Amino acid sequence: CRSLAVALTNNKEHRTSEISVKELIVRRGQAFKLTLRLAPPFRPTFDQLTMTVVTEDWVFLPDEAERQEYVMNEHGIIYKGVDKYIDPTHWDFGQFEEDMVKICMKILDYNVKHKQDPADDVSARCNPIYVSRVVTCMINSENGGGILKGQWGMDFRGGVPPTHWSGSYAILKKWSNSVFSSVKYGQCWVYAAVMCSVMRLLGIPCRVVTNYQSAHDTNKNLTVDTYYADYGVREKESKDSVWNYHVWVEGWMRRPDLAKDGKYDGWQVLDPTPQEKSDGMFCCGPAPVSAIRNGDTHLKYDVPFVFAEVNADCITWLVKRDGSMVNIETDSIKIGQNISTKSVGTNDRMNITDSYKQKEVAESKRLHFFKFVTLKVSKPVDGEDVSLKLILNSDSSATRRLSISVAVQAMRFTGQPAGNILSEALEQELVNREMTAEVLFQNPGQEILRDCSLTLTGSGLFNGELITRLPDLLPNNRVRVKFHFVPYKSGDRTLLVDFDCASFRDIKKSCTVIVKP
Ligand SMILES: *[C@@H]1O[C@H](CO)[C@@H](O)[C@H](O)[C@H]1NC(C)=O
Ligand SMILES: *[C@@H]1O[C@H](CO)[C@@H](O)[C@H](O)[C@H]1NC(C)=O
Ligand SMILES: *[C@@H]1O[C@H](CO)[C@@H](O)[C@H](O)[C@H]1NC(C)=O
Repeated sequence: CRSLAVALTNNKEHRTSEISVKELIVRRGQAFKLTLRLAPPFRPTFDQLTMTVVTEDWVFLPDEAERQEYVMNEHGIIYKGVDKYIDPTHWDFGQFEEDMVKICMKILDYNVKHKQDPADDVSARCNPIYVSRVVTCMINSENGGGILKGQWGMDFRGGVPPTHWSGSYAILKKWSNSVFSSVKYGQCWVYAAVMCSVMRLLGIPCRVVTNYQSAHDTNKNLTVDTYYADYGVREKESKDSVWNYHVWVEGWMRRPDLAKDGKYDGWQVLDPTPQEKSDGMFCCGPAPVSAIRNGDTHLKYDVPFVFAEVNADCITWLVKRDGSMVNIETDSIKIGQNISTKSVGTNDRMNITDSYKQKEVAESKRLHFFKFVTLKVSKPVDGEDVSLKLILNSDSSATRRLSISVAVQAMRFTGQPAGNILSEALEQELVNREMTAEVLFQNPGQEILRDCSLTLTGSGLFNGELITRLPDLLPNNRVRVKFHFVPYKSGDRTLLVDFDCASFRDIKKSCTVIVKP
């Protein structure tokens, strides 16, 4: 009952007053004030009071700007797209929103290890290596009780597509409110972003990282194998795959369990997307980035899996009639490109490829069957077919049978002025005073847009998501929607808007709102 005054001063000094001024929340490695009132009174000659204080902190980041970015920043950028067209998306981590302490403690309490041995689990929570691994288990739903259910197909019934989300808090709150049934649906970047929020709330520095041309090596032998058939022989199925991008997080911590000299301290890969089991659970990491770079694949946790994601060789096999196989191509360059994360203190992209990979020497074991592959695409016209023309020139006299796969992805809806947003009065808002945001959307196409909705997200501006259904939008018509809300935290805040309709999904825009104290 006397904790209020204690919480106020301690939380301010420990920079946790954004989370709460009612509960005492302190960070490690820093002094705090505590008044104990004992009944019966303390008698120095008879009673003994022992307190152990650990000043060593495995997650301490010495640089103030880095602490601000990787622990305190509630706004982030996630890179998607393909390696030649990197697409930044804003994300609201919301780690200091209401009840985040409760939600994150529940995440820890729901993990299998806690159910098996609560005392053991709780006493291990001082260890960020243990905690971060447990969190990767709990972000996906494959181990039971976890937060997000994945969907890589097109059937999003019973939930929303992964592209809907703009922030973590709506997901975490939904999980917590729904008596902990998994929230539908997530994919790699949603898993990673939610994990980043939980890590930052727990005080473990964390950032979201994208790897382009990311390999998924199912049998952990560090190669991605593709099989092609000679005449009349069926292709051998391969479970290995290469993704245009994959997103995980890095947590910052020391690794005294691996080396006494601090060789493996620093950023560690943690991948909450359920891909392969590790010690019987869908979890991955922490794997030191320095170990991945050095190829120290014997180290825990899951270094071989992450090493393959950024470094696997792509091997193409020709399967002969008698079942024997010939290696027709080895590409050791393709996997793991343009590995990206948001920079400290700015919205620029930081290229961290060199921290994962040594410089590679182009190795040419390729047998070139085709000299030129040219793809010509006709200019897209609304409502008409698009023609694709593929030109192959062979430099060999041999006859070859080939199969061609063409993948088309609509990257961005570039109607003008699609989703032009937001009133001018966003500059000088005051905390605890009502403000208005205006969203303007014009239908630039030739068809009626149906099932339209707008979703607003912004930690410190309003709690969770604001969702508004809109009437059908006729061609060239505009819709203008005003939102009123009361910002409850000062500072630079990010307002994220998502427009969704049946014809195209989840167009996103964002803007900064400066809220004065
Ligand atoms: C990396 O990204 C840059 C900038 O988007 C692009 O020009 C380059 O081609 C990419 N690298 C590879 C190997 O694709
Ligand atoms: C990896 O496994 C595949 C499938 O089992 C096999 O064909 C390939 O030879 C293996 N590669 C290496 C380098 O062992
Ligand atoms: C990122 O760094 C790698 C390695 O230095 C380099 O090859 C690549 O071109 C860089 N990409 C971008 C987009 O700067």
